Amino acid sequence: MFSLTPGDLSGNILDCAAGPASFNAEATRQGSKVVSCDPIYRFGTEEIRARIHATFETLVANASARREEFVWRDIESPRQLGEVRMAAMQLFLEDFPQGLEQGRYTTDGLPNLRFEDGKFDLALCSHFLFTYSDQLSTGFHVAAIEEMCRVAHEVRVFPLLKSYGGPSPHLDPVMDALGARDYRVEIRQVPYEFQRGGNEMLSVPG
Ligand SMILES: C[S@@+](CC[C@H](N)C(=O)[O-])C[C@H]1O[C@@H](n2cnc3c(N)ncnc32)[C@H](O)[C@@H]1O
Repeated sequence: MFSLTPGDLSGNILDCAAGPASFNAEATRQGSKVVSCDPIYRFGTEEIRARIHATFETLVANASARREEFVWRDIESPRQLGEVRMAAMQLFLEDFPQGLEQGRYTTDGLPNLRFEDGKFDLALCSHFLFTYSDQLSTGFHVAAIEEMCRVAHEVRVFPLLKSYGGPSPHLDPVMDALGARDYRVEIRQVPYEFQRGGNEMLSVPG
């Protein structure tokens, strides 16, 4: 999703809106330094586990109903998508208690991050900005990206599509607003594509 290189993975990484995903667990195991933030981390492990299980069948049913909107290449079917997600979430749940103690999971919600300026080399945000275009305003997107730029030397956001239904209407206005504030915003192609057409990320040096 983010074209991460070994150099990227050797820096300090902040994962925003990180959710119950396995990036922190897997990257930490491989020696990377990752902090993940998401308001859901205020809930306990069992509450998050219950929520994951409660939404599993909906996820598979939605993917089945909208099959043509996805590229079934690495993941071959909606059922396999569910299994891959569950395996990732299981890795997260196993890592979460220890990660919380180590300060690798924090409850920060965009657009307010507790970290000092320039603390991270890279801030990532996947499947939140642009994905929830119907719920989040252009102003929210700009404020969130600026806040990530404050705490990191580079920000990457993926994908640039709405959750269902094509390109985000916020992309052009967000790029214009950031450009007007002297950020050098760039769209870069990435090798990952699951949502059809969703193979681009926004890269913004902080
Ligand atoms: C679809 S999930 C994405 C999880 C993960 N990044 C991924 O790609 O699998 C969206 C996440 O955004 C989180 N979220 C909601 N409001 C947020 C906010 N204001 N700041 C940061 N995260 C937020 C939700 O709790 C949820 O875990």
